[in-house]
Amino acid sequence: MTQFKREDEAEEIEQRMAAEVSAAKVIEKPEQMSPLYRESLINLLYMQADSELAGALGYVPCVKMAPNVEEFLASSMIVKDEFRHARVVYKLLENLGEDVDAHVSGHDFTLRMSDSDADLGTRRAADDKRVNIFYYPIDTWVDFCMFNFCMDRGAGHQLEDSLQASYKPWARVLEGIFKEEKFHIAHGDNWVKRLADDPATHDAVQASLNKWFIRTMNIFGRPNSPKNKIYREIGLKKRDNHDVRLAFAQEVADRCKENSLTVPEWKPDWDKLPMDAYVVG
Ligand SMILES: [Fe+2]
Ligand SMILES: [Fe+2]
Repeated sequence: MTQFKREDEAEEIEQRMAAEVSAAKVIEKPEQMSPLYRESLINLLYMQADSELAGALGYVPCVKMAPNVEEFLASSMIVKDEFRHARVVYKLLENLGEDVDAHVSGHDFTLRMSDSDADLGTRRAADDKRVNIFYYPIDTWVDFCMFNFCMDRGAGHQLEDSLQASYKPWARVLEGIFKEEKFHIAHGDNWVKRLADDPATHDAVQASLNKWFIRTMNIFGRPNSPKNKIYREIGLKKRDNHDVRLAFAQEVADRCKENSLTVPEWKPDWDKLPMDAYVVG
């Protein structure tokens, strides 16, 4: 009985998707959206905007950890970028009629886990839509650089997936965001190399990689998720969640090889991973 119900639901989703595909090649205005398209888009935009805002606020304390004036500037520019990313994506939501001020004032985006080594799994620490990784605090300069190396890279791969999104106002802002994320990734790459090459900091970098690589691998969602399938069919994403994860993992493996770092083993407990990949930045 349950099996039949699932098949019926799957068929219904397929039919709805087929209708969406033909309708959703290039969308510029809310009036062009079907209810399913609008719901999917708003969900992705909130996940991105909340992650950008929580990310910016999580980076703020890192500015004071910077080792010199040049890095005070570099880290504060990264903070500025993340607030800008949040602002432009919330603006898209406002243009779709969402009450962003009420949403933002209704959540605490500074909220962080008090134990930075705790494993949140898929539990949500609050009901905003940020990716779980943004509930963990960044406690040291090494962690900040490793976060750039892992999470900004993961975000870059997810953004790349939506650069040609059928919702063109989003695609246009993603282009600028993607360029700035490349700068954050380069910041992480430069610092991870420098810290890994130094025998005094090599082990701390490896320990930080062990923590943030696993957490980043957990952001991408499960393979073959029904929602991801819909996002692809209506042109809001290009690849399956797991394909994005594999592209990210390969790039990290290449960088780690150059820096004599060992990629920690990631053992997925698929049932405990979030079903859907998030667009973040
Ligand atoms: Fe970033
Ligand atoms: Fe960002």
